[in-house]
This record gives sequence, C-alpha cells and structure tokens, in this order.
Amino acid sequence: MTDKQPMYVLPEHVSRTLGKDAQRTNILAAKLVADIVKTTLGPKGMDKMLVDSSGNVIITNDGVTILEEMDIDHPAAKMMVEIAKTQEEEVGDGTTTAALLAGKLLEYAEGLLDQRIHPTAIVKGYRLAAEKSLEILNGLALPVRDKQILQQIAMTAMTGKGAEGHKEKLARLIVDAVDQIAPETLHGQALHIQKVKGESILESELIQGFVLDKEKAHSAMPSRVVDAKILLLDIPLEIHGPEGDTKISVSTPEQLESFLASEERSLKAMTQAIISSGAKVVFCQKGIDDVAQYYLAKEGILAYRRVPKSALEKIARAISSMVFSNLHDLSADKLGYAAVVEEVFHGQEAYVYIRGCKNPKSVTILIRGSTAHVLDEIERAMKDGLGDVLAAVQSGKVVAGGGAVEIALARQLRAYARTLGGREQLAVDEFARALESIPLTLAENAGLDPIDVLTELKKRHEAGLPYQGLNLFTDKVEDTFAAGIIEPLKVKTQAISSAVEVATMILRIDDVLISKGSSGLEPRYEGME
Ligand SMILES: Nc1ncnc2c1ncn2[C@@H]1O[C@H](COP(=O)(O)OP(=O)(O)OP(=O)(O)O)[C@@H](O)[C@H]1O
Ligand SMILES: [Mg+2]
Repeated sequence: MTDKQPMYVLPEHVSRTLGKDAQRTNILAAKLVADIVKTTLGPKGMDKMLVDSSGNVIITNDGVTILEEMDIDHPAAKMMVEIAKTQEEEVGDGTTTAALLAGKLLEYAEGLLDQRIHPTAIVKGYRLAAEKSLEILNGLALPVRDKQILQQIAMTAMTGKGAEGHKEKLARLIVDAVDQIAPETLHGQALHIQKVKGESILESELIQGFVLDKEKAHSAMPSRVVDAKILLLDIPLEIHGPEGDTKISVSTPEQLESFLASEERSLKAMTQAIISSGAKVVFCQKGIDDVAQYYLAKEGILAYRRVPKSALEKIARAISSMVFSNLHDLSADKLGYAAVVEEVFHGQEAYVYIRGCKNPKSVTILIRGSTAHVLDEIERAMKDGLGDVLAAVQSGKVVAGGGAVEIALARQLRAYARTLGGREQLAVDEFARALESIPLTLAENAGLDPIDVLTELKKRHEAGLPYQGLNLFTDKVEDTFAAGIIEPLKVKTQAISSAVEVATMILRIDDVLISKGSSGLEPRYEGME
C-alpha cells in the first residue's frame, strides 16, 4: 500500500492562493485602486490630499500622482499603478481614465466568471474588442484643423485641475511653445517647465530659451549681456581637479613662486582662449578658478560654474550649440547665440534667463505661483496639457471629449459583438459597458444623474450624432467637439491598450504564490473592514 503522507513541494514560508480565490482577490484589489481615483475624473472631480510618512503634503487631481504616492503593496494593485505610469510616459494625460477602465473591465469580467465563462474566453473577447476599438477610433477621429483646436485640447486637459483659473493663458503658453519648435525636433525633451515661486500665475511666460536657477560665478561680472555669444564647456577652468587635494612639495620660496606663476599662466591662457573666441557668456559644468573668474570678469564675460550636465544639454538645444570639451578649437561660429542673457532675482534666489534664441530646439515655460503646492499642481496640469498638445500635433487626430467618443465607440463595439456570437460576444459587450463608465463617472462626479445622462447620450448617438457628449460647463448633453471639449486620439487609444493589457493579465492568473518577507504578503485592502 502506498504511504498517504502529504507531499510538500513548496517551502513553508510561501503562502498560496489558488483558482477562484486568486482571481477574486486580484480583481478586488484592482477594483479598489480604480475606486480610489474614480472621484477625481473630469472637470468636476475632487482632489486628494496625500501625506507621506515624513509629513509632506501633496494636493492633486492627477491620477498617476495619486497612485504613485500611495503606498500600494498588493501585487495586482501594483499592476494598476503601472498602467497609470505607462499612460503618463506615453501621453502624460488620461491616467485616471486608464485606471478606471481597467477596474471596470475587471469588475464586469467577474460577472462573466460568475456565469461560468472561462477566463481565456473573456481574455479573447477583451482583446478582440481592444483591436476593434483602435480601428473604430481611427474612424471617429477628426483632423487637427487649426491652432484653435490645440488651444482647446490644452484647456480641456487643464479643466478641473489646479491650473483651472488661468487655463486660458496657460493653454496659450503651451500652444505658443509647441509652435516655436520645428516639427522634426518636436518631442517631450523640447519643452521645459521651470517653476519659480513668488508671484501670480498670470506672470507665467514663455521663454524662447532656458531658465536656470544659478548665480553668476563672480560679483564683478555683468548681470546682463545682449547679443550674447555663448560657450558651453564640460571641462574645469581650473588647474587641478575639483577635489583640490593634489600635494606639491616645494623647498624654496622661488620654487613656490614659479609654481604659482606657471599656474596663473595656464589659467590666463585658458581664459585668453575663451576671450579670443568672442564668447560673452560661459556655462561651465565644472569649477572655475578664482583667478580665471577674475580674468573673465575683467573682460565683461558672464560665467556660470557647476551647471548640472542635464541643464547644459538643455541649454545646448535651446541655443543650438555643442558642448565643448577642450579649448583648442573654439571659434565664434561654433558658439551658441541668445539675444539676452540676464540674471534676475526672485526673492533671494538668482536665476539666469537665456532669451531670444534663434530657431531653438527647445523652449521653456516659466510658471509662477504663490506656494510650492500651487506650483506643483500647476506643473502637473501643464504637463498634461503639453502631453496632449504634443500627441495631437504628432498624430494630427483628435476626438470629442465629455464621454462622446466612448459612447460612439461602445455603440459600434456592440454592433461588432453581434457579428461574433459565442462567449466572446458577451465579453465584447461588457467591454462596451466598461467604456460607458467614463461618461457615467463624469456625470456622477458632477452631481448629475448618471443614468439620465447615459440614456440621453445613447439616444442621441442612435439618432446618428456621434459627437454628443456631456458638457460639464453647461451640464447638458451636446456636441462636445463644437463646445471645444477636445482630446487627442492618442489619450484614448493608449488608455484602452494599457487597460486591456493589465485586465487580461490579471484575469489569466489563477495561482498566487507569495514568499513571506516580500512586501506583498499581507494585502491590506483599504476600506474593506
Ligand atoms: N468641460 C468638460 N465637460 C465634460 N467633460 C470634460 C470636460 N473637460 C474634460 N472633460 C473630460 O474629463 C475627462 C478627463 O478627466 P481627468 O483629466 O480628470 O482624467 P484623466 O485625463 O483620465 O487623468 P489625469 O488627467 O488625472 O491623468 C475626459 O474624459 C474629458 O473628456
Ligand atoms: Mg486629464
């Protein structure tokens, strides 16, 4: 007879959840994450206040920021955070939408699981629906006709965020910034945002160049240089390394004197090379010796030392110059140019403004605001706006917001579902229902009756009006495209792709093995008690 002793293949410290239990727990975790960000969706969505363990406070409406800052440790919930991050990286906006969609896809998949539909059939249906969605969305998209549309896109992205009050001006800055850059060099790297505390948002401005928080190397240097030839250097204007711990032994005063004299000669030769090149402003990544500073100042040259490498690269793009690594082949025609370089004080802080660059490959939007919290939230809103405008310029396609495109898509997906039959049909139908959760949530967050709104929307779309959405400026169902509530196509395609990816990944898991000691061991579900 065989021995009936149980066999252990897993070490004791591994906890295991299997089959349905694993699926349900994962779905629950993902749904909870979606529920957290749900109330922030749309212009009437609320903000969240997040306080980290060291007491830092963030007030935000931005989906990805909320999810990143929360200390989420359930593995499936973490996957939801990942989609928000992907969305942020790919577009910069639509992070709440992506998380919400994924949550709904999983919630409705649970209903299908209850009807004993196999997870692989649901996964297949969802994938088919996602593929079809991209095709349908392309058909629904409208071309970017003019700059006015870009302005509206930026404003839609900033509605309901901290920047709301001044969104018109901020949107104009974004559109003007994008306009400055030649299409072939237009990408995320080309647009910078610099925050400066102190005054009103209204003083925010577009700088055709770069702004850096640095003070000039020597007080005798000029504070303003016009028609400036600019030299960028990544080598020190010093004799020994920045560590300065080189030991020299000298035995007579003459030796010391001749050593110092030779050092001074070398420094003089270095500065002479810069002076002869015609450069009037120098940005140096490394240190600048006091003696060199003196010689430069004497010639009326403005110099900055210890400029971070990343800033130097950005300046290089703005002034269309290279970063030099030696002083041998400097010449006027290889230097960068800016109409003005000037030092400006905001409070105690010195900033250098590089303005008026010709054909810049990058520009800077300087945002002003009274407190660090305000500035941070405006920056997040501006990044959403910038990302959306970039996406719209790059693909040239936009869609109507306020849930219009989601309803149109859901409607066409349902028609597609009918051609499928079988279990996939049910999954595609649920996918369509998940899309409808966007206008439903927009209505709910605005205190409107979601069902009334959805019914009205569907009725209008049935009547052949594909741009009807919920306008939350008027609280009416109307043509949101005409009302200027416009989003880039890419926000939607990316949100759908990432939501489906994570939902199907979670659905395919039927076994969760967690090693004790790993951070995901004891999932804590907020609000479950
Ligand atoms: N005036 C408006 N009326 C109706 N809906 C609007 C209006 N402005 C924006 N929306 C809608 O709000 C939704 C976007 O909301 P929100 O910006 O809060 O979330 P998100 O873009 O998904 O995520 P996040 O901006 O946090 O990354 C879109 O569906 C958009 O169409
Ligand atoms: Mg947004």
